[in-house]
Amino acid sequence: GFVIGTAVAGGGHHLEQDYPDPFTSDKRYRRILADQFSSVSPENQMKWEYIHPEQGEYDFGMADAIVEFAERHGQDVRGHTLLWHSQNPEWLEEGDFSEEELREILHDHITTVVGRYAGRIDQWDVANEIFDESGQLRTEENIWIRELGPEIVADAFRWAHEADPEAELYFNDYGVEDVNAKSDAYHELVRELLSEGVPVHGFSAQVHLSMQYGFPSSLQENLQRFDDLGLGTALTEVDVRMQLPENGRPTWAQLEQQADYYGRALSACLGVEGCDSFTIWGFTDKYSWVPVFFEGEGAATVMWDNFGPKPAYFSLWSAL
Ligand code: XIL
Repeated sequence: GFVIGTAVAGGGHHLEQDYPDPFTSDKRYRRILADQFSSVSPENQMKWEYIHPEQGEYDFGMADAIVEFAERHGQDVRGHTLLWHSQNPEWLEEGDFSEEELREILHDHITTVVGRYAGRIDQWDVANEIFDESGQLRTEENIWIRELGPEIVADAFRWAHEADPEAELYFNDYGVEDVNAKSDAYHELVRELLSEGVPVHGFSAQVHLSMQYGFPSSLQENLQRFDDLGLGTALTEVDVRMQLPENGRPTWAQLEQQADYYGRALSACLGVEGCDSFTIWGFTDKYSWVPVFFEGEGAATVMWDNFGPKPAYFSLWSAL
């Protein structure tokens, strides 16, 4: 039951406006996606701004296509995401809604989206990035928590569970690889929610690593303490970025270090019994979000622009 997944590129605003969607237009990309992975995660195509662009109007085109693709190729799907502070449509963030209306909007969204794919999505990132770096809830940035209070998070899990009782429901975040203030906050919250009978099934670390900050050496220990609570665990958005030399090409030493990080991340997951899903955030540097979001950094995935495998690719195979 162990799966290796990737984000499915497209629907994103990190590619240039009129750049053709890789998932629909790049044949080579699709072939590798089908052949090399046992799980897929829509990189953007199930986010609010994409799937719910106008109030009460849903656009399921790309999400449907990805789920159908996964079924044709016997792949799992990770749904991403239902409650987040980012990539929300303007009508939602700028709208003037009462508390009651907002609750209804979230309830309707979760019921509609999760319900549409009921039985076909293995894991849902129900809540994404609800804590900040210091382990405080994002009470200002996150519209749901700001307007409806922290209890809305439990409701989101309850509503998702009603809409698809089979899906495993996750908390997902970055910067929670190590045992630290942020992962402590999740540990405490999850314990509380479980004791209240809220349907939370998993905790996942995104694992967007930068080589300048070192490898999160307590990753396995951290996953294990969530496993000990009876949760599933997963690594959901693995990439390892580096500061690129002026010629734009990573050095051999950098590539080796990157390979080491990828291998160690996979080993940490394999070392924890309930960690059964390891997903990289894109498999080719060609479509990676990294150079657009992190100035001067790049080359974060396991394949070159031309899809040739990098040392990190082989390192994943040897860690298996
Ligand atoms: C990123 C996508 O890769 C980009 O295409 C998009 O422009 C911004 O979002 N944490 C998450 C992901 O949970 O949804 C983010 O994906 C990366 C950080």
